[in-house]
Amino acid sequence: MCGIVGILGKDEAAPILLKALRQLEYRGYDSAGIATIDEGRLRRRRAEGKLANLSESLARDPVAGKTGIGHTRWATHGKPSEENAHPHQVGPVSIVHNGIIENYRELRAELTSAGSTFQTETDTEAVAQLCARFLRDGLSPVDAATKTVDRLRGSYALCFLFEGEEDLIVGACHGSALVIGHGVGEMFVASDTLALATRTNRVSYLEDGDIAIVTRVGVTVLDSKRKQADRPRRIASVDASTTDKGHFRHYMLKEIHEQPTLLARSFEHYSKSIQLIGDKQADRIDYSIVDRIVLSGCGTAFYACLVARYWFERLAGIPVDLDLASEFRYREPPLSDRSIAFFVSQSGETADTLSALRYAKKTVSKTVAVVNVEESSLARESDVVLSILAGREISVASTKAFACQMATLVWQAIDAGRQRNTLEADGFREIVMALQFLPGLVSQVLDLESRIAVISREFATSSGALFIGRGMMFPIALEGALKLKELSYIHAEGYAGGELKHGPISLVDEKMPVVVIAPTDSLFEKTYSNMQEVLARGGKTLLITDSTGAAMSDIGCWHTLVLPEVHPVLAPILYTIPVQLLAYHTAATKGTDVDQPRNLAKSVTVE
Ligand code: AGP
Repeated sequence: MCGIVGILGKDEAAPILLKALRQLEYRGYDSAGIATIDEGRLRRRRAEGKLANLSESLARDPVAGKTGIGHTRWATHGKPSEENAHPHQVGPVSIVHNGIIENYRELRAELTSAGSTFQTETDTEAVAQLCARFLRDGLSPVDAATKTVDRLRGSYALCFLFEGEEDLIVGACHGSALVIGHGVGEMFVASDTLALATRTNRVSYLEDGDIAIVTRVGVTVLDSKRKQADRPRRIASVDASTTDKGHFRHYMLKEIHEQPTLLARSFEHYSKSIQLIGDKQADRIDYSIVDRIVLSGCGTAFYACLVARYWFERLAGIPVDLDLASEFRYREPPLSDRSIAFFVSQSGETADTLSALRYAKKTVSKTVAVVNVEESSLARESDVVLSILAGREISVASTKAFACQMATLVWQAIDAGRQRNTLEADGFREIVMALQFLPGLVSQVLDLESRIAVISREFATSSGALFIGRGMMFPIALEGALKLKELSYIHAEGYAGGELKHGPISLVDEKMPVVVIAPTDSLFEKTYSNMQEVLARGGKTLLITDSTGAAMSDIGCWHTLVLPEVHPVLAPILYTIPVQLLAYHTAATKGTDVDQPRNLAKSVTVE
């Protein structure tokens, strides 16, 4: 998604804007630009492609000024190009925007008939043109920006910069996050706190409908009713060190290798809060009266919901209603005031997941955000926040966040099982013990990386792949397929093992690798039969199992990866590691942009 930043600074703005935009690269983008006010005049530089192109343009033809705005664009309306890149400038106003203006065609038609001439294909230009018209009508910059925003429908986070106004940026947001950064003698506006990490960690979060009038001495916020509002200052939980790759070639590989440490941190945190059952932790969820659990999310986060469904149903005996957030919000399922709704999202800014939350919170007894960004919109709008404690996830591909989402949700399921007496004390203790030892098992699986890298080289020449798993391995099959396709651009499908013979088996031939994800659990025999069906048709199987499984079935397999034995409840977390590494090394072999795959964004803040 797009990234925006605005600076009312003490130093030259251009280098600071570039640095801030680099912190936002992880969001995914295809062009970038900045604008500054230099001796009262608006100056602008934009470039298609990566920030290096913008940096070269600025080196050739610098822009001065201590006030400026910057943008990384993830194209929604209008192809990636320099002319469609932000900032969009019309007369004395320059703006940057994250989101989608849904009524831009209507505005464009109205403005064109009033004599405006559009230069681009973007929805954002309509905002700049509208604001310029209000300025021509004699409105002040703040009133022109406010009147412009009041005409918009859709999602937006905006920064307005005005010719001659070196001490003013107007910010506005609806359905897309915007934060105010409080520096020392300087002020900032940005899409997220990471953009400001090198300048300040003192931030205020704007709410939907807010207008922020920012000068170097501070900010005045007008709420959706245009009444002055207070948005408290907080200390953001990020720092610049977060964005250091260390000795890893890509953030994704670094984040895969962080998982043992993060799972240990998750254990420390949640074992304390859940173990104190007798202390009636104030923020603990009461599952004793719950009639249903709702689970929703997008992409990898949805697969964490799929795993959690098994846990809540099997360990706590609670029926689960689960759906992709983009479907849930339009399906509008009947909900009850005895249900609890979980919304899982690494960024906490995914538009579909936010909308699903807003639908559910009208009815359910409690909404729970399972998030990595504790200051995110999803967290702020939910009744309970369960932080997954994964630290900033920079790579567009979600890896450590997925493991930590599952580690967070499993604690809720076993807590629910204890409260409802569907999980015996011994069973509870076994799972807690297994969680304590899980980081060590993950480290052992990471030791398979060199073998997986060799297998990946063969995978990289494939035209497609199937991933199959049964029970809790089915979501991991889906995740493995998603990782492979989003990173290496090789088409892949995840299937429930039992579904293979209902169609997909027609795809099987010697060129189509089939990844079989099968710990020796109660469904192993069934998955083993599916694998035999593949081998009988000349297919090549990569079997991911444990030593018992390998002893029973690695005859004829193309490759077999043997994982350590693990408690069946925690197998989804452990069996995710090899499919993450497979996708990473296949993509690295192919030379794709691993941390920012084409067309993808880290946080999909548009529907
Ligand atoms: C994960 O590898 C994908 N990039 C994507 O599916 C992601 O999980 C999805 O967009 C949800 O993002 P969120 O967790 O920030 O809501």
